[in-house]
Amino acid sequence: MQRNSTLYTISFAAVVCVICSIVVSGAAVLLKSRQDRNVLLDRQKKVLAVSGLLEADESIPPQEVQRRFEERITTKYVDLREGTFTELGDTPGIYDPVKAANDPASSTALEPNPAQVRAVPHVALVYEVRDEAGAADQYVLQVWGNGLWSTMYGYLALDKDGETVRGLTFYEHGETPGLGGEVDNPAWKALWPGRKVFDENGEPAIEVVKGEAGSPEEDPHRVDGLSGATITSKGVEHLINLWMGGQGYGPFLAKLREGAA
Ligand SMILES: Cc1cc2nc3c(=O)[nH]c(=O)nc-3n(C[C@H](O)[C@H](O)[C@H](O)COP(=O)(O)O)c2cc1C
Repeated sequence: MQRNSTLYTISFAAVVCVICSIVVSGAAVLLKSRQDRNVLLDRQKKVLAVSGLLEADESIPPQEVQRRFEERITTKYVDLREGTFTELGDTPGIYDPVKAANDPASSTALEPNPAQVRAVPHVALVYEVRDEAGAADQYVLQVWGNGLWSTMYGYLALDKDGETVRGLTFYEHGETPGLGGEVDNPAWKALWPGRKVFDENGEPAIEVVKGEAGSPEEDPHRVDGLSGATITSKGVEHLINLWMGGQGYGPFLAKLREGAA
């Protein structure tokens, strides 16, 4: 074949494309398990951080993340319809409540809501965090809902009283760095511990306000909004109130408060 012919050029390009695609897909397959491990490690780190078992500026090796996690945290499953702990059936692989929420067979569809969450899974993941004496001390709940640009996925740590915030963090979102992305700012996250997610009637009551809220003691339900990012701020309010409500963790938290979960 002539090197300067059209057929040669097209064939050469096709061979290069095939070789590259084999290399890329091979790498993706080979690295999949490592990627999954890293995602799991990152989630474990976030759970440790939101429950105060890992400081914001603390850098620890993967083995230490796993050790702390196993020592103090138990992964549990909650049937959101009943509000009780449950066991998972034979689910292959790692259970993912977000995937379950996308499957009509394993989720409950919601009416249109401000958090723009279309469905909640029948079974949610809850991390029970024990104190040093081994007693249940707090519960880390997976929550998600829309910001301005993206679905924000995070963890809300609640005290064993089932209403006092111990921490809030997001592990995935696509909000603008410096604006909505400030949901990751440690100074903003520090405003959350001590707030109460329910009012005196047991209704979800978090409000993220434009401007400044008071301290948790004087202003238990309100938190300062992020400046220049009211839509993301309201998204955080909406998603917390949705997940604290009757179709989220509400029934489970009510049972927790009565000591009957
Ligand atoms: C490039 C660009 C990125 C923006 N990113 C966000 C964002 O991530 N979250 C958000 O709430 N608002 C974002 N905004 C601003 C919103 O459009 C809107 O003006 C803002 O939420 C209103 O908040 P404010 O009342 O505190 O100014 C962005 C605006 C621009 C121009």
